[in-house]
Amino acid sequence: MKTLIKNGNIVTSTNQYISDILIHDDKIVKIDKNISKSLADRVIQAKDFYIFPGGIDPHVHLHLPTPAGYSSDDFLSGGIAALYGGTTTIIDFVTPKKGQPLPEALNTRIEEASNCPIDYSFHVSPVDWRPTSESEIQKCIDMGFPSFKIYLAYKETIGLDDETAFHVMKAAGKLGGMVTAHCELGDEITNMRDFYVSRGMVSPKYHMLSRPARFESLAVKRAIDIADQANCPLYIVHVSAGESLKHIHLAQQSGQPIYAETCPHYLLLDESAYNGDFEQTVKYVISPPLRTIEDSAQLWEGIQNGVIQTLGTDHCPFSFEQKSAGINDFRKIPNGAGGIEHRLELLYTYGVLNEMITINRMVDIFSTQPAKIFGLYPQKGEIAVGSDADLVIWNPNLESIISAKTHHSKADMSIYEGFTLKGKAQYVISNGNIVMDNEKLTSELPIGKLLRRKVQNPINQYYNKSTDYPNSNNCGRV
Ligand code: URP
Ligand code: ZN
Ligand code: ZN
Repeated sequence: MKTLIKNGNIVTSTNQYISDILIHDDKIVKIDKNISKSLADRVIQAKDFYIFPGGIDPHVHLHLPTPAGYSSDDFLSGGIAALYGGTTTIIDFVTPKKGQPLPEALNTRIEEASNCPIDYSFHVSPVDWRPTSESEIQKCIDMGFPSFKIYLAYKETIGLDDETAFHVMKAAGKLGGMVTAHCELGDEITNMRDFYVSRGMVSPKYHMLSRPARFESLAVKRAIDIADQANCPLYIVHVSAGESLKHIHLAQQSGQPIYAETCPHYLLLDESAYNGDFEQTVKYVISPPLRTIEDSAQLWEGIQNGVIQTLGTDHCPFSFEQKSAGINDFRKIPNGAGGIEHRLELLYTYGVLNEMITINRMVDIFSTQPAKIFGLYPQKGEIAVGSDADLVIWNPNLESIISAKTHHSKADMSIYEGFTLKGKAQYVISNGNIVMDNEKLTSELPIGKLLRRKVQNPINQYYNKSTDYPNSNNCGRV
């Protein structure tokens, strides 16, 4: 099958130009002006539309088991919602049971994702340290899953103490992997949560108050220090607090391979969302919680100056019924909110059109940087001959309003309810398949590919104290 896209305004992380793109099966085979229509089975007229590389969401939780049940979206519904928003690749997580070998949990998770309509991969989360852990990490890397996730929060369940975090980072760094980390001080949070509940302060607002910005920034500092001791590249997920950026920036300036992600909700929402009754506020029970308007401004700045490399959604919605498990105790509310569908729409409307970031930087944090950091580049994250034909054909003039009534996630609520948007995916092409055709999802959804990866491990350069570490003058940009 050959598809020709005519006269699109191609935008990559570094370039913008008008050209045609010829796709053959799942690859881009030619980019040129005036490619003959006779070469193609299907022609899409893209004049006045932008063409972006398909999005890579490096942080989603589909079909996540919790004591309140599974998160609202499985790999099928989450993948469909992602496609509507121009995301064609996701990286989800493998969370084993304590004592379970990592490769076994990974294989189970691969099965669970087999109906995912877009390409997918996994970060693997060690939740303990056992004599076989290092060889299990090696096996995961050999299988093509070289990024690991640790939680410094959630101490009651999956959170790690510093010693275990060190073991994981030491092994991952040595074996050529990298570690991603949820940074909040777990023990301190547990104390604060129990303190509030013991005094009858049980509403969602106390979720936020028990997880102050300082607990994040101190955990970020600690994770950076442990990674330094362990010689391991570190990616800090869902940075929400401006003060965390100081530690990240300092480490990056010293040449330490540290990457940072934030999420749309930390850029666009703030802690005033916790003022109201349970029904109004419970959807904002996410970790880390929403911060101040000043924090959001500092995060935008972090994106502008390159301290933050990526934008993930941390898509993890639950139904109102599930969230109601915590009506009398915020500790029982499953944490998480949705957003997989709206990353590009929000970034374009509130980032590009509000002149917070350039359109190239938008592509960079939405697609190119996640591809580079997690070992998918230039197969993904780029518009180039030989790259996968994952493309978003973007109509900058379509307007919409976000609502749980009309979004494509199965979640019955949205933290972005009422947000107005300008710009929408008119066509989405995934591995050469036109999955979104003139705003309509195809009835024959393809099956996504499981992506096995190999990350670049720049660590030796840094830990040999080489002065020419490629990121050292570039605030962590890859
Ligand atoms: O509240 C959140 N973010 N839930 C999902 C799990 C996590 O911590 O990323
Ligand atoms: Zn997290
Ligand atoms: Zn998460």
